[in-house]
Amino acid sequence: MRGDLERLLFDESAIHRRLDDIAAQISNDYRDRELTVIAVLHGSLMFVADLLRRIPLPLKLECLSAASYHGKAETSGEVVFQPATSGPSGRKQITLPDVAGRDVLVLDDILDSGHTLAAVRETLETAKPKSIRICVLLRKRKRRVRQVAPDYVGFEIEDEFVVGYGLDFQGRYRNLPYVGVLRKELLEKY
Ligand code: IMP
Ligand code: MG
Repeated sequence: MRGDLERLLFDESAIHRRLDDIAAQISNDYRDRELTVIAVLHGSLMFVADLLRRIPLPLKLECLSAASYHGKAETSGEVVFQPATSGPSGRKQITLPDVAGRDVLVLDDILDSGHTLAAVRETLETAKPKSIRICVLLRKRKRRVRQVAPDYVGFEIEDEFVVGYGLDFQGRYRNLPYVGVLRKELLEKY
């Protein structure tokens, strides 16, 4: 799989060193509060597991699945949440984690167009949390379709398609322990 990468961006130890910094910052910011962490799956899985083990605070962990890519390399703009159940009218309703009155920290792998995190934030706000902050491992340098200002950012990257450490292309590469840029010809095949 390493051969499918054009360039390595962050190896395992660079990621872990950066997680030490962010975890220290979060631990300090929330030292007298009880956090509810919302992990936006699947991309944030590795990030969440490694980050939370560095935060020695009482906290709750909830998961939300959100997809806007549908296996392609560009966002569709439509964000689909799971788990979802059919409401009385047959419309899909999502089962929201209980965040009323809580200090919420949303963790996601990457901020790209902003669609996903804007939708996550709006959806969580309907449940009236006390506060919401956003933490992403990666933020792409680009104009965003929707404005999202994360409170904690691991690394800034250029507007390139990256995989590894939870991030996928068509479901693959999530298990790479590092982050790298996928070779363009692999993206173009689809
Ligand atoms: P946004 O809604 O466009 O901000 O995209 C957010 C979601 O798209 C992320 O949670 C990722 O799952 C996926 N995504 C965006 N950019 C990349 C990338 O470069 N590689 C892999 N997944 C990406
Ligand atoms: Mg994805």
